[in-house]
Amino acid sequence: MKTTRSKTKTKRQYAIVGLGGRSFMFTHALLKDYKDRACLAALCDINQTRMNFWNQKFATDLKVPQPIPTYRPDQFDAMIRKHKIDTVIVTSMDRTHHRYIIRAMELGCDVITEKPMTIDAPRCQAILDAQKATGREIRVSFNYRYAPHNLKLRELISQGVIGRVLSIHFEWLLDTHHGADYFRRWHRDKNNSGGLMVHKATHHFDLVNWWIQSLPETVFAFGKLGFYGRENAEERGQLKFYDRCHENPLAQNDPWAIQMDKSEYLKGLYLNAEHEDGYLRDQSVFGHNISIEDDMAVLVRYHSQALMTYHLTTYSPWEGYRIAFNGTEGRLEFNLEEKSYVSGSDQDFNLPDRRDTESIEMDNKPVCLLRRQWCKPVKVAIPQGQGGHGGGDERLCADLFGDPQPDPFGLRANQIDGARSILTGVAANQSFRTGLPVRIDDLVKF
Ligand SMILES: NC(=O)c1ccc[n+]([C@@H]2O[C@H](COP(=O)([O-])OP(=O)(O)OC[C@H]3O[C@@H](n4cnc5c(N)ncnc54)[C@H](O)[C@@H]3O)[C@@H](O)[C@H]2O)c1
Repeated sequence: MKTTRSKTKTKRQYAIVGLGGRSFMFTHALLKDYKDRACLAALCDINQTRMNFWNQKFATDLKVPQPIPTYRPDQFDAMIRKHKIDTVIVTSMDRTHHRYIIRAMELGCDVITEKPMTIDAPRCQAILDAQKATGREIRVSFNYRYAPHNLKLRELISQGVIGRVLSIHFEWLLDTHHGADYFRRWHRDKNNSGGLMVHKATHHFDLVNWWIQSLPETVFAFGKLGFYGRENAEERGQLKFYDRCHENPLAQNDPWAIQMDKSEYLKGLYLNAEHEDGYLRDQSVFGHNISIEDDMAVLVRYHSQALMTYHLTTYSPWEGYRIAFNGTEGRLEFNLEEKSYVSGSDQDFNLPDRRDTESIEMDNKPVCLLRRQWCKPVKVAIPQGQGGHGGGDERLCADLFGDPQPDPFGLRANQIDGARSILTGVAANQSFRTGLPVRIDDLVKF
């Protein structure tokens, strides 16, 4: 049943749950760029130190006059009611998303959730059912859709430049800064993140669904932990190990370590906050108890009958992706080197310029190569955005919080997109376990 809210308020009221590194994009958009129309009314997290850190930053950096009221998870309902929240933004640890998404809708709120919408099929079904029952709106913040280069690929494919897409070859590389970071934190436990097939590849599977305007039908996959983890390092001859980096002499000159005390944000958000919840942000990537894969190969058949081969590698010397679409009238190829980053950090890692000199570039900009059958190849200039996630973050915020704009390419993602994108990864996880192909329609009922 849809609950109608009072329209007497001038500003839309927002609460945000999960005040880690990613919350920055949303809180700063609401408190700075969209403060004329939006009010960030409440923060909710299990960790008070993290919320206090942000309140201090809001005061010093954004001149926010009063601390934003803070709440613990058991005060979620009271928070929603007290501040008459219109929209809840969910940026907590992945395995907790469904709880807040569902409860927010039951309390009459709309939801903006970070990816992945959730981590497995039962939680996904519960979200879909709750959305149907309440009629509230869910937006899944797929920022990559908004990056100009990704939008350009969507545009080209929809114009039919290669005819009907018959197959896709897609390789995504995470480098030894960004990729390694998933093996230091809660993501390394599959129960928290669904593994990188869900946590990370949800972006990539969403892009493919959206680029080719089709949906996954059957998935088959192999995955392994072959690089990170103690046993792999031992096999390569490593002899000395540590559990976490902080104050450990073995970690001081280790390129795989993260030095939290050298970064204001890592220190304020995680090191100074760990006494409350035991969240260790700097565990060794060569430690025990890593239950996620670092190398994953997936085959997907889509309802359109298009076939995809996809590979995710997490220990690469460079970060970015290579994709090729084969169509009835030609082939579209695109390579992109992305800027590596470490979530929640203001640290400059002095990353060397490792741009692939052999990738197809024109005026130093990545371009797309269009090879139509029987024709000479043509370089198509691809626009590049500035800022987080290839310029996607800023555009996503404008779409979420700014004036409504036409959406001819269907950038706005809802719970169906959120579900379809994670279900490819959920199916891949199942296929890792069973060695069998998995049909998406057997996982949830839409
Ligand atoms: N779209 C993107 O490009 C992008 C980038 C980074 C992160 N993310 C997503 O944002 C979310 C947060 O990631 P992050 O990097 O900020 O992680 P983080 O570890 O920095 O923050 C997670 C926060 O969740 C809180 N939390 C944990 N359990 C909770 C609970 N039960 N209730 C409330 N809060 C709880 C933690 O205390 C912490 O503050 C994840 O879902 C991640 O996938 C998306």
